[in-house]
Amino acid sequence: MMVGIVGLGSYVPEQVVTNADLEKILDTTDGWIKSRSGITERRFARKDQATSDLAQIAAERALEDAHLSPNDIDLIIVGTNSPDMLYPATACLLQEMIGARNAAAFDLQAGCPGWVYAVTAGTQFIQSGMYKNVLVVGAEVITRMMDNTDRGTYVLFGDGAGATVLSTVEHGGFLSFELFADGSLAQYLTLPAGGSRKPFSKEVLKERSYFTKMDGQAVFRFSVREISRISKKVLDKANVPLESVDWFVPHQANLRIIQSGAQELGIPMEKVVVTIDKYGNSSAASIPIALDKIYTEGKLKNGDKVLMVSFGAGMTSGAIIMEWSR
Ligand code: UT7
Repeated sequence: MMVGIVGLGSYVPEQVVTNADLEKILDTTDGWIKSRSGITERRFARKDQATSDLAQIAAERALEDAHLSPNDIDLIIVGTNSPDMLYPATACLLQEMIGARNAAAFDLQAGCPGWVYAVTAGTQFIQSGMYKNVLVVGAEVITRMMDNTDRGTYVLFGDGAGATVLSTVEHGGFLSFELFADGSLAQYLTLPAGGSRKPFSKEVLKERSYFTKMDGQAVFRFSVREISRISKKVLDKANVPLESVDWFVPHQANLRIIQSGAQELGIPMEKVVVTIDKYGNSSAASIPIALDKIYTEGKLKNGDKVLMVSFGAGMTSGAIIMEWSR
């Protein structure tokens, strides 16, 4: 039984934050940000918007695209690293917002590959026969997890959401999945406080450990290694040669990581979808947003082979090779 994407939608907040805006609050320059990351601008959610609000708009667009009503959804999985609150799950809040009365709901936290992990999980529910239609959303207001006094992280991230409805398809769909985690590298990308290890305290406030801490170079090395390793693995599993890949949709963390991954795989840049220049790193939302970009631009054609790969906190990585069919 083949499972694929039968509905796709995304949303990015309207507020554009340029590198010049960040030059005013941080010791940074447009030149540094562009040359080191490829980012020109990013989107910030409005003060009154939380992750579920962004997820709602993307989910409603995906449902409309799928020609399904919220009542047709059996399960909602939200991949996020910036949930509205520690609990309940953002997926439950989303269930209520879109009126998906028949759906079970949970969040899946797997760093930036959260959407890739969630699509993999959602597919298993359909293939096992337990559910028919699964809504998988990657959604983040990740900028709120960033320290606006830390130039090493604050300039890199942006907010957004991408949603996909999964169901059985007659042709194509997901050809193979590959997931990976290495907890020995967990310390390189963390949000240390606010959980059971380090609850809120005066000390937490003072050390600003309720914000993301990242060893950029360590994450960079892991990402460059993983992007080609796990891509080759997922393609081998599906017996798809690299030359047959029509679209490469990598997680948007750094243009240099994307370029070196594409180069190592031998994929020309014309086949690579890039949104980081406009949206920055929107964590678990970056791949479905990028996919929706080529979809709404009319570039994604039936039969196209799409390679999606992500990497992030955990450290984790994940890849999917899909044949687009609508
Ligand atoms: O979503 C998954 C998680 N994230 C990633 O995948 C991110 C992976 N890492 C990266 O993308 C890159 O490592 C960064 C963009 C974060 C940093 O680029 P880099 O080329 O690795 O720079 P660096 O950390 O080696 O820093 C070089 C210099 C340092 O100054 P010194 O020590 O050489 O004097 C930094 O303090 O650049 C400095 N620097 C900045 N300068 C201006 C760091 N951030 C900034 C900044 N503006 N925003």
